[in-house]
Amino acid sequence: MNQNFTIDHATVLVTGASGFIGSHVVDALLQGHCKVHCLVRRTSDLRWLDRTKVQLHYGNLEKPFSLKECLGKTDYVFHCAGLTRAKTRQEFFQANATACKTLYEECAEHGKHLKRIIHISSLASVGPALPDQPVDENTPCKPLTYYGKSKLAGEEIARQFSSSLPLVILRPPIVYGPREVNFFAFIDGIARGWNLQIGHKNRVLSLIYITDLVQAMLRAAVCPSSENDVYFITDGHFYHWDNVVETVSKILNVRPRSIRIPDRLLAFIGLLLEFISIYQKKPPLLDRQRIIDIRQSTWTASSEKFFGQFEFQPQYDLQKGLKETVDWHKKQPGR
Ligand SMILES: NC(=O)c1ccc[n+]([C@@H]2O[C@H](COP(=O)([O-])OP(=O)(O)OC[C@H]3O[C@@H](n4cnc5c(N)ncnc54)[C@H](OP(=O)(O)O)[C@@H]3O)[C@@H](O)[C@H]2O)c1
Repeated sequence: MNQNFTIDHATVLVTGASGFIGSHVVDALLQGHCKVHCLVRRTSDLRWLDRTKVQLHYGNLEKPFSLKECLGKTDYVFHCAGLTRAKTRQEFFQANATACKTLYEECAEHGKHLKRIIHISSLASVGPALPDQPVDENTPCKPLTYYGKSKLAGEEIARQFSSSLPLVILRPPIVYGPREVNFFAFIDGIARGWNLQIGHKNRVLSLIYITDLVQAMLRAAVCPSSENDVYFITDGHFYHWDNVVETVSKILNVRPRSIRIPDRLLAFIGLLLEFISIYQKKPPLLDRQRIIDIRQSTWTASSEKFFGQFEFQPQYDLQKGLKETVDWHKKQPGR
């Protein structure tokens, strides 16, 4: 089946539209000439949004506010708002759980024509896999971190609305591509000649490139058989961390120096970066919570259910996805 499709001429609300995933969803919807309503905050950086083509609505989902204005005629909602980094447990839960309650209460009240809501959760809501045993939709959820627990809490809120709203929950692993910052910090390190080896030596992981994720989201929105269900969505491969480093190095044509950071130093570094971040607005890229994730050997998931149900075939493997990511970054001003 051709992957490059979009939703035609629908009215759509995208939360988190200023963010990495949300802004790519907006771009794909605009290609289908959809009327796109974007939920953003007063403080949001709007550089990825073309304000002449979308309608902006300002609001913070952590507090109740009315979305009546844009939900009345909305066909689809893509709920991409959330936090992947935060300084406290409370911040994670407010953005990834409380925000869902605000949104779905509004959808239930005003979304009379809603055909589908795509809720973006995460592999972190289930937790790591056992070696050689990728998690799937039947695996019990055992999230490890505040982030994972807050994403699971968001899913639970979504399920509470499943009798009144046409919700589908998608759980991606790490998503990478243009406009992304967390995974790119690692690529940037390699570009500068450093391969910081942290965490488990033989880490295995699932990944997905942004274009494939957006295509999967659109497919899940329009396919009638997917209602009220949960799916993992990955690019279908499992990668050893060393392969990831090797692939990035080849694309960048660099031979980075490897430096192994011992485990006992990691916790100290995490604590130090947390301390420094007290004086900064943004949470650090690495903290003790993230170190819990990095220490796990296996972050793999099976997407067989999604692929089968939606006849979906990802178009990007690591080589192709990273090449596009690196090429995009090279073209950014100031690089
Ligand atoms: N990136 C990944 O690797 C990955 C993997 C699995 C799942 N996910 C999930 O995918 C979703 C999007 O992630 P992302 O990578 O696109 O993150 P991102 O680039 O940080 O974008 C997050 C978006 O959510 C918005 N947002 C945060 N809190 C909000 C609130 N209280 N009210 C309204 N909007 C709020 C942000 O607005 P501002 O611009 O104002 O900050 C931003 O637009 C998240 O739910 C995340 O858990 C991401």
